Amino acid sequence: MADINAPAPPLLVIEALQVRFGGLQAVQALDFSIGAGELVGLVGPNGAGKTTTFNAISGLHPPTAGWVALRGRDITGLPPEQVSRAGVTRTFQNVRLFAELSVLENVMMGAFCRGRCGLLAAMLRVGRHRRTERRARDVALHWIERLGLGQYAAQPAVTLPLGLQRVAEVARALAGEPCLVLLDEPAAGLNTGEKARLTELLRVVVADSGCALLLVEHDMPLVMGLAERVIVMDFGRKLAEGTPSEIACNPDVIRVYLGA
Ligand SMILES: Nc1ncnc2c1ncn2[C@@H]1O[C@H](COP(=O)(O)OP(=O)(O)OP(=O)(O)O)[C@@H](O)[C@H]1O
Ligand SMILES: [Mg+2]
Repeated sequence: MADINAPAPPLLVIEALQVRFGGLQAVQALDFSIGAGELVGLVGPNGAGKTTTFNAISGLHPPTAGWVALRGRDITGLPPEQVSRAGVTRTFQNVRLFAELSVLENVMMGAFCRGRCGLLAAMLRVGRHRRTERRARDVALHWIERLGLGQYAAQPAVTLPLGLQRVAEVARALAGEPCLVLLDEPAAGLNTGEKARLTELLRVVVADSGCALLLVEHDMPLVMGLAERVIVMDFGRKLAEGTPSEIACNPDVIRVYLGA
């Protein structure tokens, strides 16, 4: 009989993950897990394998070996749209919005990815797909308002400053109603004020949606102030893992960051 007191399995489990590009081991022997609603930082020097890890989880570049499980279900190597439908959405290191589409249309794309009837049918507004479109619009508008983009909803995405484009990408990821969002350097290129605002918004996201966030970021004060737990990668491997204060005084981490 199942033990009702047994702890729930972690939301995401990565086991022995490996990604090879020819002779280069970009990610190797990587293990970590994320709990439901957790805010975890993933840091490391340039080329450490952070984006490659995101690509392996999200199906953009499947791993060479290893496993990715979401709520106990094996999602290793599934194509991106299936990973997103399973509940993992993401943002990109270089913003990937449709430049000419409005902010609302961009964010609705995230919601369509979640729907079962497919983007094309929904866009063509055939039959029952009108309902999907209405639902997508409602979810998109919710996150647009919640993240302070209401006044820009009808504007082409390309007309927004970078800081707001990055927020729009977060809104698009949330419109997929995920249980986990992978954020790849959401603060890159932002000024101090924009970073502070983004930090507050990410707190709002976790509190409102209850979804977990895995945050890749080079801005260490931002990560240390936001994450409950931090994973450090170097040369494709996990170098350290712990609370921000444990990580801040870990000699291996200090060595990597100071280059000593
Ligand atoms: N498509 C690819 N083909 C070949 N090599 C790649 C490819 N993508 C990444 N790499 C290499 O894999 C390694 C890890 O790259 P990755 O982009 O994951 O690092 P990162 O930790 O995200 O770095 P950054 O902080 O600079 O974004 C690097 O050596 C990179 O050059
Ligand atoms: Mg990267």
